[in-house]
Order: sequence, then structure tokens, then C-alpha cells
Amino acid sequence: MKNHILVINNNLEDIEKIKNILGKVYRITIVKSTQKALEVVKDDTPDLVLVDISLIRISEDEFIKIIKKNKKLYKIPIIFIAASLRYKDEELNMELGAIDFLRKPIESEIMLKIIKLNLELKNYIKDFEYRIHERNNRIEDLKNALILSLYELVECRDSHTGEHVKRTAKYVEILTEELVKEGIFKEILTKEYVKDMIRTALLHDIGKIGIDDATLLKAGSLDSDEFEFMKLHTTLGAKALQKIIDEIKEENKFLNIGKDMAHYHHEKWDGTGYPKGLSKLDIPLCARIMAVGDVYDALTTMRPYKEAFSHEKTVEIILKGKGTSFDPNIIEVFEKIHIKLKVEKEAMNK
Ligand SMILES: [Fe+2]
Repeated sequence: MKNHILVINNNLEDIEKIKNILGKVYRITIVKSTQKALEVVKDDTPDLVLVDISLIRISEDEFIKIIKKNKKLYKIPIIFIAASLRYKDEELNMELGAIDFLRKPIESEIMLKIIKLNLELKNYIKDFEYRIHERNNRIEDLKNALILSLYELVECRDSHTGEHVKRTAKYVEILTEELVKEGIFKEILTKEYVKDMIRTALLHDIGKIGIDDATLLKAGSLDSDEFEFMKLHTTLGAKALQKIIDEIKEENKFLNIGKDMAHYHHEKWDGTGYPKGLSKLDIPLCARIMAVGDVYDALTTMRPYKEAFSHEKTVEIILKGKGTSFDPNIIEVFEKIHIKLKVEKEAMNK
């Protein structure tokens, strides 16, 4: 398919020349004003724009600015045609958005070469961007596959834990979305952090793979030794994820967030949690959010040694933990939106 060149020119001699030379190689559309050009680009995106600079200078519609602000059009190379070009003009034109220049009178061979080169460059950049995009997609797929396969291990080991992990990850997502909406912790909760946090939330109890059956699957309350052993799932999980991080070496930030959640989701705001007894802002934000989702699910779920608490009772207990067990800022958000967790739980239990 022929490349499409949009020519903006009102000089009859230039138009004739451009038509004769470019018309043989490219599909060309010729308009006499930038206003007309804007109408053309709406439906027929050109591969390159060739514009007489005098039309830009007298134009009040700020053609170039409109093109450069448009997501679909801003990468189109724009070449200016000018009667004379001094160094200062070139600098100014570059600032305006020109990628190259043609001097009048137009030399056929030079015009063809400049247009060909700029189209090749545009295609090269497009191809390069496509490859980068594909590569990033592959990396994303691998990250997701890694997380899901690790999650499957937890699920295989203990389906009860698997289900708990899935629900908790969803609660973390709901809480985090609300924190983002309210602009709380916005320096930390970047788009990338949130994305990595939500997907690695599935790994927060991965250390339970290392807990023996007698403890993990015990149909009753744990004695103090067993509880101490169970606590190790935090450090075991962090160690396992650290090993993967060390092997991957780069692009590993997404697992760092997962590792922090695995390591610190049983820490408490007042420093009475485990395994490190961290307090307040020393506990990574992802783990502080996870702590709320984790406790909500633990309390609302039946265990062999306890009944499930109602949503209302659970909310009451969690609100009491504001500033002791949990980050007060997160609890303020939880207080507003806890009903969403209930709705989600009911939907997942269906
Ligand atoms: Fe846990």
C-alpha cells in the first residue's frame, strides 16, 4: 500500500511540481489551508505532512499544536517548505515541530530523498516501538505465569489457604483502589506499585508451603509451639521470594512488593506483631494494607476451631484495631467502604 502524504500548499507552481513528482510514488492529498488539512486528518491519517511554512506562520488555528496534542497524529513527521532558511529559522521551526526542511525552489531529487528517509525513519521507530511493546507484553505474561504457578502450589498444599489467599487478594485490591481514589499515600501508590501489589497479593501466605501438615492442616487451635512454628510462614515466604528475586536480577521490583507482603503482613501498627515487631511506617505500606484484608477474611471465615464472625462483628473488631493493630489511615478508608468487602465475599462464595 502506498504511503499517504498530506500536502498543505497554496502555491500553484509548487503544487504542480509536488503532484508530478510525489504523485508517482505516493498517494497524495493536497489542500490549500491548515483548516482544510485538519478536516482531512480526521478521517484519513497521513504518513507524512509536507507544509508550506508561510501557511503555518499566518495560520491562527495552531495546526502544529493541534497535531502534536493528538494521540493518533502526534508522531506523524512534518516537513516544512520555506523560501529561505537561516540557522535561526531552522531552530525555530524545530521548536514548532518540524522534523526536516525543504528549500524553495523545490529540487525533485532532494524532496524525494528527504521524504523517503523520513518515512523510513518513521517506520523504523514504529517497528521498534512495536517490538518493545511485544517484549513488555511477554515479560508481563511471564510475571503473571510465575505468580499463578506459585499460587497453585499454595492451593495444592492446602485448598483452604488457597481460597483464603484469593479472597484476601481481592480485598487488598478494593482497599487499594479506594486509597488511590482518595489520594492517600499517593507518593507510594503509583500505577506500577498498585499493579504489582494487587497481583502479588496472591503470594502473601506462600510460606505456608513450608509448614508441616500436622500444623497447617490441624483441625483445632494451635498450641503455643505450633503457633510459633506457624509464624515462620512469614520469613519462609520472604526467603523463597528473595531467592527468585536474586535469580531474576532485573525487572524484579514486582516480587519485592510481594516479598514485603509475605514477610510483614502479620506486623502490627503498635509493634506487637511478628516476625520483626516493626511498627507504624516501618511496616511497608503493602503489608499494612494486606494486614486489614487478611484479618477481614480470617474473621469472616469458619475454621475448624471457630465459627465465622458476621460482617458487622468483624468490622467492629477491625475498627477497634485502628492505631493498635492497623494503620489508622487505612482503617478510615475501610470504615467507609467495608460493605464492598462483604459484597465481594458473598460473590466469591457463590
Ligand atoms: Fe499469613
